[in-house]
Amino acid sequence: MKNKGKFITFEGVDGAGKSTHIEEVISFLESQEITVKRTREPGGTKLGEKLRDILLHDEMDPETETLLMFAARRQHIAEVIKPALDEGIFVLSDRFTDATYAYQYGGKHVAYSKIETLETWVHPDLKADLTLLFDLPVEVSIDRLKKNRTPDKFEKESEAFFNRLRNVYLDLARQHPNRYRIINANQPIESVSHDVIEAIKSIL
Ligand code: TMP
Repeated sequence: MKNKGKFITFEGVDGAGKSTHIEEVISFLESQEITVKRTREPGGTKLGEKLRDILLHDEMDPETETLLMFAARRQHIAEVIKPALDEGIFVLSDRFTDATYAYQYGGKHVAYSKIETLETWVHPDLKADLTLLFDLPVEVSIDRLKKNRTPDKFEKESEAFFNRLRNVYLDLARQHPNRYRIINANQPIESVSHDVIEAIKSIL
């Protein structure tokens, strides 16, 4: 039987540079002859990408939003994540369930217990082996978003919203110190890259 692949998730406030660093992690893992699957949430499947488009652009009740996030996640796990891990492939996901705690609980006040219930339903046995939290002061994150792209629905939220979700991420990191590595994303890009690769090495 093949060894199972590792599941690595990338989290953080918007504008923290996750995408750039995911590419570096892929190059590094491939240089170690590890097969990698890059994916994202919401999304990662044909159905999930359709839901992503709705989630990022349509206004809706926060609980509807939470349920759709988990609907997309269920499909993502069944169709992509689990089969890849069973094949020994490393799965790198740009966001996963911690984002629902941060954005829908922290940002939008959906009850924590409701998200826990959905997590237990949708993936009772699946946890990330490593979660990299790209942490950035909220003012810096907002500044980068203004410069770099047309904002989606979430990126238009207030500074208070971003502060709440950053604090939820930092709390999750404190609660799960074995799984989490906090990456200081407010330093020169080379230093961020160095810290990211060191974190990856720690689970190989
Ligand atoms: P991205 O910009 O990192 O691709 O993520 C898309 C947006 O979706 C981002 O603003 C965070 C948000 N999001 C949630 O609100 N809840 C979730 O569970 C996930 C996965 C993402």
